[in-house]
Amino acid sequence: MEPSINLRQAIERRRAARAFKSDMIPSVIIQEILRLGLQAPSGYNLQPWRFIVVRSQENKQKLKACAFDQRQVEEAPVVLICCGDRRVNQSDYIESVIELGKEQAAMNDAYADFIRSSVPALFENRPSFDSLEAWTNRHTMLSVAYLMIVAQSYGVDSCPMEGFVTTQVKEAFKIPEEVDVCCIVAMGYASEPFKKYGGRFSIQTVCYGETYGDFFEI
Ligand SMILES: Cc1cc2nc3c(=O)[nH]c(=O)nc-3n(C[C@H](O)[C@H](O)[C@H](O)COP(=O)(O)O)c2cc1C
Repeated sequence: MEPSINLRQAIERRRAARAFKSDMIPSVIIQEILRLGLQAPSGYNLQPWRFIVVRSQENKQKLKACAFDQRQVEEAPVVLICCGDRRVNQSDYIESVIELGKEQAAMNDAYADFIRSSVPALFENRPSFDSLEAWTNRHTMLSVAYLMIVAQSYGVDSCPMEGFVTTQVKEAFKIPEEVDVCCIVAMGYASEPFKKYGGRFSIQTVCYGETYGDFFEI
């Protein structure tokens, strides 16, 4: 199924939608949004993201109550609870990643052994993150970015949200202790008017050349 607009148009048209029509997203489009969202990269291909797809009115109301009553949680036909599972360092999970690589003929024995020793070491030493929550967020949000852009390419609007109480969401949706709730994404067809585009800082403002703070000349 081909998107109706190209990548640049999808990126430029995406806005955080705060109000949605009741129209359902066709299942084939939901499937494609998730399938392509899952193509995001991850360290050692561990893919720690997990998504709870909430569609029932009852569960959306439950989620809205955990999300400061934000109306888009109830109005959107589909709401994703985007989680990151810290248990991907467990040996049986690492073996499943190795198996997946073998099925794709992208894994040899040496690399499999490398992963078996490197992933536990990464989680133990944490050279590039302070907490495992930072690590799960790093990965899950990449997948979230992918799927919001894919959604837009099929004309599906979205709203990423951090306005929720984690403990309440975890309890209400039976999310295990070792799993982090990274964000919620409401998806559907926005009802106008959109909140106005807030603008973005320029390349020169946020990109540096060679060292932090130094002017970047294109
Ligand atoms: C991680 C994250 C959390 C956000 N949380 C909320 C939220 O709880 N409620 C909301 O209405 N918008 C939320 N937003 C949407 C932002 O306000 C919005 O993306 C930003 O103002 C830029 O607007 P735009 O996405 O329309 O360009 C969130 C966005 C991100 C990326």
